[in-house]
Amino acid sequence: MSTAVEQILELARWAPSGDNTQVWRFELLGPDSLAVHCHDTRADCVYDLDGHPSQLSHGVLLETIAIAASAHGLRADCLRRAGSADTHPVYDVRLSADQAVVPSPLLDVIASRSVQRRPMSTRALTGTEKQALEAAAGSAYDVMWIEGFGPKLRAARLMFDNAKLRLTMPEAYEVHRRVIEWNKSESSDRIPDQALGVDNATLRLMKWAMVSWDRLATMNKLMGTWAPRLQMDLVPGLACAAHFVLKARRQPQGIDDYVEAGRAVQRFWLTVAKLGLQLQPEMTPLIFSGYVRNNIRFTRIDKLQRSATGLLGKLDAVIGSGAGYPVFMGRVGAGPAARARSTRKTLAQLIK
Ligand SMILES: Cc1cc2nc3c(=O)[nH]c(=O)nc-3n(C[C@H](O)[C@H](O)[C@H](O)COP(=O)(O)O)c2cc1C
Repeated sequence: MSTAVEQILELARWAPSGDNTQVWRFELLGPDSLAVHCHDTRADCVYDLDGHPSQLSHGVLLETIAIAASAHGLRADCLRRAGSADTHPVYDVRLSADQAVVPSPLLDVIASRSVQRRPMSTRALTGTEKQALEAAAGSAYDVMWIEGFGPKLRAARLMFDNAKLRLTMPEAYEVHRRVIEWNKSESSDRIPDQALGVDNATLRLMKWAMVSWDRLATMNKLMGTWAPRLQMDLVPGLACAAHFVLKARRQPQGIDDYVEAGRAVQRFWLTVAKLGLQLQPEMTPLIFSGYVRNNIRFTRIDKLQRSATGLLGKLDAVIGSGAGYPVFMGRVGAGPAARARSTRKTLAQLIK
C-alpha cells in the first residue's frame, strides 16, 4: 500500500513538460513533505536559453501536485529553497490537512490530458467554454482569443513562417534528434514520432534525413520544408476553434513569475481536457521573439538570427503589442484525443 505522498506523485508525474523532458526529480522527506529537484535545459536546448519554458513546466508540475493532493484533503505549500540556483531550483513541498480543501474537479483528467498536434474541429468555442477557461487561468492573466477564419489564417501563417526557422536551424536539429523516438506511438521519456502530426511518408523522409545535419540541410535545399510545415503548422493552425494567448497582467520579473504562470497554464489545460476539448501549445514564436527582444544569440547562422527579427513584427501583428505580457500560446478545439502520446517515466525512476 503506497503512502499519500506516493499516490500524489504517481498522479502528478503526468504533468506535461516541454518535449516531455520531465525536468524534475522527487525526494521523499517524510509522510507529509518532499523536495522537488528541478532543472532547466538551457545548456543544450535552443528553445530554453533563458530557462523560462522549463520554469513554466516546473509550475505546471507544482500545480498538478496541489490538485493531486486535494484528493486527500491536503493542501500543498510549495516554497523555492533559498540558495538553490535558478538553473536547478529546489521546491520544498509541505502537505497539510485543511478542511477548506475539497477534491478538485480536475483530478480525473490529470492523466488523460494530452497534447493534440493534429487537426481539430473548427467548431467555435461557446461562451460557456471560454468563460470556464478564462476563470481557470485566474485573475492575474487575461486570455486573448484569435478566432474566425481571417485571424486564424494569420496565426497559422505565423506558425508556418516560424517553423522554417525551426526546421532549418542546426541548433534546433540537435534538439529534435534527441527528443523524437522513431517508430513509436508511445514514449516514456521523449515524443513518439506518431504524435508529431505528420503522415507516415513524411515521417519516413524526416527519419532518413535526420540521421545527420548534412543530410537534412541537403534535403531542405532540394525539397524545401513545405511538407512538414503544411502538416504541422498551416493546416492545424486553421483546423482548430481558436488560437489563444495567456497574457500576464503584470510583467514577469523572474523565475517565480514564470512558475506562477506555469500553474495557470496547467489549470487552463486541465480545464480544456475537462471540457472535452484538445490543446496544442505554440510556444516557438514567443520564445524566439523573446530572444530578439533581449538580444539573445540563438544560432550560429546569421541569416536565421536576422529572420527572427522579422518574426517579431509578425507576432505583434497577430497577438498585438498592447496590454499584457504573453507567457503561453496555443490552439484549442473540439475533437478526439491524440491516438499517439508521450507517457512518463515511472515514479521509481523519478524518485532520487
Ligand atoms: C511549457 C510547455 C511548452 C510546450 N511547447 C510545445 C510547443 O511549442 N509545441 C508543441 O507541439 N508542444 C509543446 N508542448 C507539449 C509537450 O511536448 C507535451 O506536453 C509533452 O511532450 C508531454 O506530452 P502530453 O502532453 O501528451 O502528455 C509544451 C509543453 C509545455 C509544458
